[in-house]
Amino acid sequence: MSLPPYKIKSVEPINLISKEQRIKKIEAALLNVFGLEADDIYIDLLTDSGTGAMSQKQWAGIMEGDETYAGSRSFKRMKKAIRDILGFEYVLPCHQGRGAEQVLDKLLIKKAQIVPGNAHFDTTKAHIENRGGIAIDCTISKGFEPKIEHPFKGNLDLEKLEKVLKDNKNNIAYILITITCNTIGGQPVSLENIKKVSKIAKKYKKLLFFDGARFAENAYFIKKREKGCQNKTIKEIVKKMMDCADGMLMSAKKDAITNIGGFIALRDKELYKKLVPLDILMEGFPTYGGMSGRDMEALAIGIYEGIDAKFLHYYIENQVGYLGKELSKQGIPIIKPVGGHAVFIDVKRFLPHIPQSQFPGQALCCEIYIEGGIRAVEIGTLLAGRNLETGENIFPKLEMVRLCIPRRVYGKDHLDYVNKIITQVWKRRKTIKGLKFLYEAPILRHFQSTFKRIS
Ligand SMILES: Cc1ncc(COP(=O)(O)O)c(C=O)c1O
Repeated sequence: MSLPPYKIKSVEPINLISKEQRIKKIEAALLNVFGLEADDIYIDLLTDSGTGAMSQKQWAGIMEGDETYAGSRSFKRMKKAIRDILGFEYVLPCHQGRGAEQVLDKLLIKKAQIVPGNAHFDTTKAHIENRGGIAIDCTISKGFEPKIEHPFKGNLDLEKLEKVLKDNKNNIAYILITITCNTIGGQPVSLENIKKVSKIAKKYKKLLFFDGARFAENAYFIKKREKGCQNKTIKEIVKKMMDCADGMLMSAKKDAITNIGGFIALRDKELYKKLVPLDILMEGFPTYGGMSGRDMEALAIGIYEGIDAKFLHYYIENQVGYLGKELSKQGIPIIKPVGGHAVFIDVKRFLPHIPQSQFPGQALCCEIYIEGGIRAVEIGTLLAGRNLETGENIFPKLEMVRLCIPRRVYGKDHLDYVNKIITQVWKRRKTIKGLKFLYEAPILRHFQSTFKRIS
């Protein structure tokens, strides 16, 4: 048993409104949980992004935030921390992960160029497509089998990757490995796989980047599951992972436990020099890039706290893993093994009577909210969007609802309550109906589309 490596110093009240009110609220939000407001929600499992609780050290650091436009001390400290942990020499700050994606893609992606990777995150794919590029998913097939307990489901299929590179030699923008892989259940990538992808990237002379929002969790899984890594520290494993890549994009709102922020970290000075004007154009001067000085301080401190082995163990095993185990005990189908930052419900087995064309994951999110004021998020057909050429809905192999656990925020009683509420929904699952669009948003449609129930 591992104990929480922190105690609570500051509390934020939360309130559970009545079931009648919850029904009214979700109807007023036109069955999209993104339309709910903070005061309507008791437990918010929408995302782990920017929702973690900062430490006393981070809050103290915030008071030292240097808001100098050019040459901020806080940027210097942030760069030093990133260099120390990730080993990349050059750092471009960005306001969050998608800011980093926008800046990098503007330089590296030309029309019809390909970015092979493992189940690209939604904003990542949207930015690639926004530049006229194509994201090709090379994740191993086991990554899409919800019941298979593979230790590294985020791995890339090396044969598939090599075929994509061989067939499109002159048309590859870069290779991207997402660690951990959010879109298929917060699943890690092994160090062995990262090394092999790096070798292939070198063979074809292609740049390799990490989408490293949850790089520390990935290192934790490597330490726990990969042969020969048990005696290494998280920092040592992170270094080994990073040594394989040319750079990393990070949404710092996850494993660096900040409320906002991100960056591009790079090895190559020439690439850095080419990206600086774009950072200035789209994010801000390269010593703040869309972040305030205080946020850069919080990042500089949070990135160390994010790689703390005791914290990672407690978060991944005693919070995320605990909730997964409790739900499984009730017979609720979830993606196995449980991911790093969230438990993912396997919606095809939860609601087999609702076809993917009727957005069963979205319907389930609405029911979970009505049942107990808990907000979860759909990671399925709604999020997958449409095929750009045919305009048809993409029906992903995994239809999921994500219960994302913010870092250092909720306690065991909250998680037990989540288990109880989802069990109650599970018991009445056959009464749940599918949805159809009232309005379909044109880009990243899950955020803004609205729905009505199919009677
Ligand atoms: C794997 C991954 N990449 C990129 C992003 C985008 O980051 P942001 O939300 O900070 O723009 C996210 C956000 O959830 C993510 O999970």
